[in-house]
Amino acid sequence: MRAPRDGWTVERLGALQDLDAVVAVAEASFLNGWTRAMFVRELERPDTAHLFVVRGSAGHVAGYCSAWLVSDELHINGLAIAPALRRQGAARALVRHALGEGWRLGASEALLEVRRSNRAARRLYDAAGFTVRGVRPRYYVQPVDDALILGRRL
Ligand SMILES: CC(C)(COP(=O)(O)OP(=O)(O)OC[C@H]1O[C@@H](n2cnc3c(N)ncnc32)[C@H](O)[C@@H]1OP(=O)(O)O)[C@@H](O)C(=O)NCCC(=O)NCCS
Repeated sequence: MRAPRDGWTVERLGALQDLDAVVAVAEASFLNGWTRAMFVRELERPDTAHLFVVRGSAGHVAGYCSAWLVSDELHINGLAIAPALRRQGAARALVRHALGEGWRLGASEALLEVRRSNRAARRLYDAAGFTVRGVRPRYYVQPVDDALILGRRL
């Protein structure tokens, strides 16, 4: 059963506080998830890199979205929600916020790559208005998979 859930808040992470929770979500979500050092490097480049976190009503970190603003493009590099908190709308809130911030900062397009086999993420992005722009065959390893390049106008 999935309980409909309101009350997600999304904010940009500006300091090391809460980074452990972000790293824990990445480790629980990806085989070769980003390390703490990689997230720290993001925080050191605030001109380009935006690290958003989504919080539940108790203030705990439920997930994150890492994005780069390059010229007029918002590149979503990584997004994950803690396994126990999935299917409650947290990713939808995160994507909506990241796209809104990209638009506010002058981006006209959002782009990302997703595994062809990642049904959950593809449905999430499809519902957020992304369409397939291209394919990178066998781009991913462990396991091998195509990357779909998705994009949408902002
Ligand atoms: C993909 C992921 C971020 C979705 O997070 P989530 O918080 O569970 O997603 P939401 O609850 O906001 O769901 C939004 C929509 O996405 C789709 N979706 C999410 N999980 C799904 C699943 N397991 N199966 C099918 N569709 C799914 C649905 O369309 C859903 O809308 P609905 O609940 O009204 O049907 C999460 O499963 C995750 O962290 N996966 C591992 C990391 C990952 O694959 N990241 C994406 C890399 S590009």
